[in-house]
Amino acid sequence: MTIKEKIDHLRIELHRHNYNYYVLNAPEISDKEFDDMMRELQDLEKAHPEYQDENSPTMRVGSDLNKDFRQVAHKYPMLSLGNTYSETEVAEFYERVRKALNEDFEICCELKYDGTSISLTYENGKLVQAVTRGDGEKGDDVTDNVKTIRSIPLILHGDYPPLFEIRGEILMPWTSFEALNRERELREEPLFANPRNAASGTLKSQNSAVVANRKLDAYLYYLLGDNLPSDGHYENLQVARTWGFKISEHMKKASCLQEIFEYIKYWDTERKNLPVATDGIVLKVNSIRQQRNLGYTAKSPRWAIAYKFQAERALTRLNKVTYQVGRTGAITPVANLDPVQLSGTIVRRASLHNADIIEGLDLHIGDMVYVEKGGEIIPKITGVDKEARSASLGEKVRFITHCPECGSQLVRYEGEAAYYCPNETACPPQIKGKIEHFISRRAMNIDGLGPETVDLFYQMGLIKDVSDLYLLRAENIMGLQRMGKKSAENIIRGIEASKEVPFERVLFALGIRFVGETVAKKLARSFSDIAHLRSADVNTLTNIDEIGEKIAQSIVSYFANPQNCALVERLENAGLQFRRLEEGQQGRTERLAGQSIVISGVFAHHSRDEYKELIEKNGGKNVGSISSKTSFILAGENMGPAKLEKAQKLGIRIVDEEEFLQMIDES
Ligand code: IVH
Repeated sequence: MTIKEKIDHLRIELHRHNYNYYVLNAPEISDKEFDDMMRELQDLEKAHPEYQDENSPTMRVGSDLNKDFRQVAHKYPMLSLGNTYSETEVAEFYERVRKALNEDFEICCELKYDGTSISLTYENGKLVQAVTRGDGEKGDDVTDNVKTIRSIPLILHGDYPPLFEIRGEILMPWTSFEALNRERELREEPLFANPRNAASGTLKSQNSAVVANRKLDAYLYYLLGDNLPSDGHYENLQVARTWGFKISEHMKKASCLQEIFEYIKYWDTERKNLPVATDGIVLKVNSIRQQRNLGYTAKSPRWAIAYKFQAERALTRLNKVTYQVGRTGAITPVANLDPVQLSGTIVRRASLHNADIIEGLDLHIGDMVYVEKGGEIIPKITGVDKEARSASLGEKVRFITHCPECGSQLVRYEGEAAYYCPNETACPPQIKGKIEHFISRRAMNIDGLGPETVDLFYQMGLIKDVSDLYLLRAENIMGLQRMGKKSAENIIRGIEASKEVPFERVLFALGIRFVGETVAKKLARSFSDIAHLRSADVNTLTNIDEIGEKIAQSIVSYFANPQNCALVERLENAGLQFRRLEEGQQGRTERLAGQSIVISGVFAHHSRDEYKELIEKNGGKNVGSISSKTSFILAGENMGPAKLEKAQKLGIRIVDEEEFLQMIDES
């Protein structure tokens, strides 16, 4: 097989396995086999750029080249759908269609996927362009990003038209959405409110490698072009599935209003079991000929309509607003409510997000408020039933000005919606939160310690900050709230073991604002130790890939605070890792410190390069030629006679292999 044939073969196979996995949900090979094939193809393509192909499966890996999106005009405008909210409105739509067509018709019932819409163009079976809806007339060319979405075929198979567009919805499945938000929470990045925002945010990312990592999915629901397989919309999509597209399994044709109502009723509850978010049902006249006859209004087709599911919401009384202080000092207002049933759980509290939202709602204590649990994880207040207000209007909710925990005056940073308590080092929930973060699994991973124990130690005055952990003795904590000898020793052992946690995780554990795991890793790679990081200015920091102004400012101001510097010093003295461990740095010694060594000859136990490494690892210096400054010569067999003579003349010691290995204690 020639290289070209090998590349072609791998591409065909990878496209096929991709389709099996992401569209049919029926993989034939293991993930490992798939990854290996992909890597093989990547290597071949790298070595043979002459065989580059825009639609190679390797394009799905994405790249981190920054791009501004090109605006592209839609060939056919991307319209929206008229919304309905009741069976009556659906019946009215059905009646309008019946009157206008005056012949038999079928309605295709579909789920209304709640993501971000996309229009894909295929030319001769290849994906050539992917454009967002934009303003309906023109959108952003996001082709490179879309290519990373595995359920979107780059190459089609079967009998497809030479040129067509297919439209659909790009979605972030619930599981990916929840995992993404968990990660963002750890990194203290703002959370996405729902999968729709996460999907559209991701699709507009400037970095397609980010898109590739975010596990987006796509359902296609509308085919446009000449030479489509048949007059039926439903039928066309079934054929499009065989070309490689992911088409919903839940489309259904209805030939009367009753069947439509049954479909709506079924999916109103069943949609909760779907892997992606839906917010309604779309009803489309199935015949394309009839669609054409019905035509469009300025904004939307006359042949289709959306029925929106009622967002689950409940009405309940607002009793009071309390405020939580997070470990970063961010203040979150929380509505305390009369308990109310909402999609299977009892809701007692709901987020009010920030001061602006409270102001916008014009909240008063005692108000009857609407609580919703749309796509969001935490229920939120979406409105006030102002009609229900009595003459005796309760007190207006005003955002607090001082920290409810420590009384400090709150501050608001530029460009941020949240208020913060600035008392980082003495505000109890901030201190406890910082300690909890410090001991957490991904940070110092201290076994045996949890939030309750931290709380207890804090209450008892045993710890005021994380450095106090390293002063604890088993005797101090034994007996506290029935803590046995074993648990106490276990905790102390866990604390002791954390001294081996590498620099990057120690940096993450410090809890510097905006320094999550990824940033901490980047910092540890760029600065060999804490002293260098401490003295870095904003400019130096922003020169590091992916570290922006905001993160840099935060790091600089962290080290500008003498209390933080003192804390770091205490931790350094306790023996934590505040310098980067070079690869293979394990086993480093200073046995050859200050010695300049020349290697000559051939060796039995190690190669010359390995000896060079051993010299460095043990603190010695490799030098090329003999001089009076040479400490000794590491000599193997067949040392050159000229070198030997020079060594003898200068009186430089000759060390053989065995002796050298003894010197470095490796014999
Ligand atoms: S058909 C001209 N079908 O809902 C009609 N749209 O407000 C083209 N959507 O922008 C759209 N699921 O993003 C259609 N099964 C479905 C859909 C769907 C979700 C979205 C789409 C569109 C919006 C309409």
